[in-house]
Amino acid sequence: MPGETRKFDVIVLGAGAAGLMCAAVAGQRGRRVLLLEHNAQPGRKILISGGGRCNFTNIHCTPANFISDNPHFAKSALALYQPRHFLELVERYEIKWHKKTRGQLFCDYSARQIVDMLLAECERGKVEIRMNARGIAVEASSGEFRVACAVGDFTASALVVATGGLSIQKMGATGLAYDLARQFGLKVIQPRAALVPLLLSGAEGGWTGLTGVSADVTVQSARGPQFREKLLVTHRGLSGPAVLQASSYWRPGESVRVDFAPGINGQSKLLEPLLAQGARRDDAALRQALRAVLPQRLAWHLADVGTPTGWSNAALEAAEGRLRRWEFHPAGTEGFEKAEVTAGGVDTGGLNSKTMEARAVPGLFFIGEGVDVTGHLGGFNFQWAWASAVAAGKAV
Ligand code: FDA
Repeated sequence: MPGETRKFDVIVLGAGAAGLMCAAVAGQRGRRVLLLEHNAQPGRKILISGGGRCNFTNIHCTPANFISDNPHFAKSALALYQPRHFLELVERYEIKWHKKTRGQLFCDYSARQIVDMLLAECERGKVEIRMNARGIAVEASSGEFRVACAVGDFTASALVVATGGLSIQKMGATGLAYDLARQFGLKVIQPRAALVPLLLSGAEGGWTGLTGVSADVTVQSARGPQFREKLLVTHRGLSGPAVLQASSYWRPGESVRVDFAPGINGQSKLLEPLLAQGARRDDAALRQALRAVLPQRLAWHLADVGTPTGWSNAALEAAEGRLRRWEFHPAGTEGFEKAEVTAGGVDTGGLNSKTMEARAVPGLFFIGEGVDVTGHLGGFNFQWAWASAVAAGKAV
């Protein structure tokens, strides 16, 4: 009811993954919880996640799967609430699931089951959920937070900000978490698009002629680890899981390095067939060697743009080096509208790692994607949403 003013113990902003989980945990502890969401529907990103099947966690989750200015920050929350804990919840609701490659767990049927499960958990905790809570504004005075929005005026001694990052505005993403952090004197690490396709231009724009080609490669950004997964050439640049992973570490002006033959290790060489004594050394032999490990269109393209400057051993070794450490110079990313997540966010230096409470503002908590903790691709971002939500839900 517009015009209503009511008092709660806890107000949670944002009915996404983290907000729903946190509200449920706090409610089930007997706290009177209000959950405010500006969309007309809760958990919209959960619904579209994992191709509609929600990759809800990853059983190989460790702190090394997260990017943050402080790589230690996520450790406590991740240790407190682990993938097996979320899996127990999923099984209690008899949601059928399966494991894909690399420890990724998905629903067999629909991501909708995860949203329904979280809503049922909120109901168990008697959480009041208000949708269409547009225009949220927060003020604090005498240890209370006052939240005014389109559906009313509310107060509580604890406020949890779970409004996520900037990725995909049309799904309801806003910068509210960053605005509130700044309003209360917390620092914000510059948000940037992550798990996002990279754009190629100039001389490298020619690669987009291979649109649709994919290959098993390793990709590495200057400041990140190597990821061995698929690379996909798009009509604007590079995508596929290996590139998305590397994109989270990429910064403008930096290059990304691709090994086009990650399966060839040790003493072996991709151009071995040409290097052997008495071997045929010409363009056809080069194409054949590349074709042995790469799809034809990619092999042909690499033979064209990476042709050795001659057929001597030294020229072939140099060509081998280029193919194993191919440097792309992305012109940018496809931005927040195509980014699966937002890296950066509320600086963890201002938060308590066990509770997610702002050190300088008692009662104010930040959880989920809005915080400067970003997971790799593969269910890690939801695991962070659940873990940070439980940490706060137990503390509010
Ligand atoms: P989330 O974005 O889920 O929720 C924030 C909520 O706050 C939203 O409901 C939003 O509408 C609301 N809100 C925002 N601004 C507001 C305002 N001003 N006022 C009121 N409400 C406001 N991760 C993973 O682990 N496995 C996967 O399979 C996928 N798949 C995937 C696919 C796609 C297409 C995307 C875009 C993302 C993923 N992710 C993922 C990432 C994952 O969805 C994401 O990290 C979590 O949803 C983050 O949870 P949060 O609760 O922090 O934010």
